Order: sequence, then C-alpha cells, then structure tokens
Amino acid sequence: MAKGPAYSRVARFYDLLDLPFEYWRYRPIRRLLFDGVGGAVLDAGVGTGRNMPFYPPSGEVVGIDLSPQMLAQAHKRKARLGVAVELREMDVRATDFPDEWFDFVIATFLFCVLEDEDQQPALSELRRICKPDGEIRLLEYTYSANPVKRFVMRLWAPWVRLIYGAAFDRHTERYVAAAGLELVEERFVFQDIIKLLVLRQQ
Ligand SMILES: C[S@@+](CC[C@H](N)C(=O)[O-])C[C@H]1O[C@@H](n2cnc3c(N)ncnc32)[C@H](O)[C@@H]1O
Repeated sequence: MAKGPAYSRVARFYDLLDLPFEYWRYRPIRRLLFDGVGGAVLDAGVGTGRNMPFYPPSGEVVGIDLSPQMLAQAHKRKARLGVAVELREMDVRATDFPDEWFDFVIATFLFCVLEDEDQQPALSELRRICKPDGEIRLLEYTYSANPVKRFVMRLWAPWVRLIYGAAFDRHTERYVAAAGLELVEERFVFQDIIKLLVLRQQ
C-alpha cells in the first residue's frame, strides 16, 4: 500500500517527532551519504527535506515524495535554507524521469517504509532512471543483533508502524539482484541498526 496518506497525517509533526534522532543520530550519517555526490541527483522520498543541508552546491537536485503534505514542509525548508532543489510529487515505483537520468540516487529511510511487495518495483525504477555508471545509496534500519537492543526495538516497532508505516526488517538487499542491481557496499553507519547500502547496475 502507498504510504502517502500516512505521511499526510504526520507531516506537520514529523520534524518534531524525529528531532532527537535527527540531531543525535542522523545528521552525521546524512553528511556521509552525500560525500562525493554531484551532477544530477535524486532524493527519493525527500520527506520534509532533512537531507537538504547536505546537497552538493553544484549539483542539480530533484526531490520526490508521494505525500503533498510532506512536500509542503520540504518547500518551507527549501525557502529557509535557500537550497536549489526541484520538488515534485511522484511515486518512486513509477516516476516520470527518462531512462538513465541521474548520476546519484539517494533514499534515506524510504525503503523501510515500502511494503515487501514494493521493494523490487521501487529498486527496478531507481535502476531505470540511474545512469549505468551512476550510484544508488540507501540508508535503512535493521534489527540489532544485540538481544537487549533488539527487544527495545521490538517494543518500538508497533509505534513506528502506526506513525510512519515503517518496519525495521525490510531486508531491501534481498531484492537488489532481481532489480538488476548489484550490492557494492553494505555497512553499518550507526551501531548495528542503521546501514548504508550502495548499489550499481549489474
Ligand atoms: C521515513 S520518511 C523519510 C523522509 C526523508 N527521506 C528523511 O530522511 O527524513 C519516508 C518518506 O517516504 C515517502 N514515501 C513513502 N512511499 C513513497 C513512494 N512510494 N514514493 C515516494 N515517496 C514515498 C513518505 O511520504 C515520506 O515522506
């Protein structure tokens, strides 16, 4: 199921709800994710525009999202920060972009929101619109191997599902090969619960 409606409800409070995580956990990771990024860049599932401070100044960035309400918040952040980004309402599973358009595709905490059956269609679409020598970088949650942390995450899971439609166990990497992509890098960037996936065409 598409998650636009869920985010429409939460859009106005999203930044507030996420504030502690944003400052203590996500900011350094976002910076890392945009390291060396340039040219034509897609921020897929742009949300309220939390990645905007890290966009490359010389890049041509497009941010897409399914939720008009999240995009409205992104427009406010764009104006506040004076960032050059084109914001468009679009579904990552079926975008309007031509083949091989982007040098880099970035998606932070998008795939943890997509249902299992949407993982491969979304990856296939990103493959289509990314240049053959381009790179797709994803930031995703996963359950910790530590039993205590895992238990705490399991307590959080229903809330995360209710508010964000998200899950900690999407296993996006399982759909990579079927989408015609190759996993060239997979590593944890925060404890053993947030990982970076770097994908390229096979
Ligand atoms: C957890 S938020 C992450 C937002 C932002 N990337 C960040 O790092 O803060 C997930 C975003 O993905 C968007 N989204 C969900 N399904 C989508 C889809 N099929 N196509 C495009 N955006 C989608 C939601 O509306 C929401 O804004």
